[in-house]
Amino acid sequence: MKVLFTNIKELIQVEDFPKQMIIGKQMKVLPTIKNAYLLIENNIIKDFGEMAKIPKLNIDKIIDVTGKMILPTWCDSHTHIVYAGNREQEFVDRINGLTYEEIAKNGGGILNSARNLQNTSENDLYEQSAIRIKEIMKMGTGAVEIKSGYGLTKEAELKMLNVIKKLNENFPITIKATFLAAHALPKAFKNNKSGFINMVINEILPEVAKENLAEFIDVFCETGYFSVADTVKILEAASKYNLKPKIHVNQFTAIGGIQAGVKFNALSVDHLEEMRDEDIEALKNSKTMPVALPSCSYFLSIPYTPARKIIDAGLPLALATDYNPGSTPSGNMNFVISTACIKMKMIPEEAINAATINGAYAMGIEKTHGSICKGKKANFIITQSIPSYSFLPYSFGNNFIDKVFIEGKEI
Ligand code: NIG
Ligand code: FE
Repeated sequence: MKVLFTNIKELIQVEDFPKQMIIGKQMKVLPTIKNAYLLIENNIIKDFGEMAKIPKLNIDKIIDVTGKMILPTWCDSHTHIVYAGNREQEFVDRINGLTYEEIAKNGGGILNSARNLQNTSENDLYEQSAIRIKEIMKMGTGAVEIKSGYGLTKEAELKMLNVIKKLNENFPITIKATFLAAHALPKAFKNNKSGFINMVINEILPEVAKENLAEFIDVFCETGYFSVADTVKILEAASKYNLKPKIHVNQFTAIGGIQAGVKFNALSVDHLEEMRDEDIEALKNSKTMPVALPSCSYFLSIPYTPARKIIDAGLPLALATDYNPGSTPSGNMNFVISTACIKMKMIPEEAINAATINGAYAMGIEKTHGSICKGKKANFIITQSIPSYSFLPYSFGNNFIDKVFIEGKEI
């Protein structure tokens, strides 16, 4: 089935050949075509160009989008969407003065979510998570990475990863799974961290690999959670199963997690609220994508990732939500690009590049997602009538989305 979209006010993020990623100064450039058409066939982008040069074709359906813009769907490369229950009580506790760290020390935080998840059936967990998948698709996300890590036992981690697998089978959105092997130390291993890490490596990891439940490996490399040495041990074990690292680093403290990630050819290093000059240096000449999560900074009132320092150093940057019950109960990529512009001083072009092509790279799907390019998936957002694409981040808190197409189908 061939569908032609005509009179597109501006077709955004077009490319003739898929780029791997967009780096440094190039991030200021967002290629567009004004007064354009877009042709899709089934789930694939077939052609696009200026209205004046529209070819004569046999078309099944024409959709006139006068006044509206089209851009690729968001690529959200870092989430924890599969979780049970919520943590709004901790939100209130933080308003009343407790810190995220204090809440975690008192048995709340990740351990709270883990208890909840362990007591939730796989079906129930699936239903709770499916609601969030539908919600993010409506907000324009066409590809998403989802992590495990709220299980903390073999049984519960496999339950999470099986739910991720089923969501991927049942929804048109592309889903990439990450085994977040070490997220917090469970109570049963309170004084036995090495015992927990050995259990993860010797019991859970082989099963995850055997069942093909994840492509990526993650560790929360952070003071009070897992050290660089712990991280290295887990990444080394995972490399034997070809799981590529995408790791949580530099959220509260800079302890060398980025260097460890780069050494193991991490696809991405994520969070980066605390960045030393040597951390930026370590990313140069690497294939590792730095990923910022501004809605986490917003929700926890912690520093924002120094995007200007990173981009001005000639590095790429991707933006993602971190959607999870503790630090970011929101999967809204529209809010993420807006916050990146307002709080991290990224210009709209940089934010859109970071949330599309660079986000796709951070999930290993840049050949099929992240831009309007012939042969890529027919994944795109049709905006409402807006004056310019900068209006999207400018009008923070609003999503000026008219329709979302994923794999050629309207959501
Ligand atoms: O990315 N930092 C580690 N993990 C999550 C939050 C975990 C939680 O509080 O449930 C994050 O922010
Ligand atoms: Fe996270």
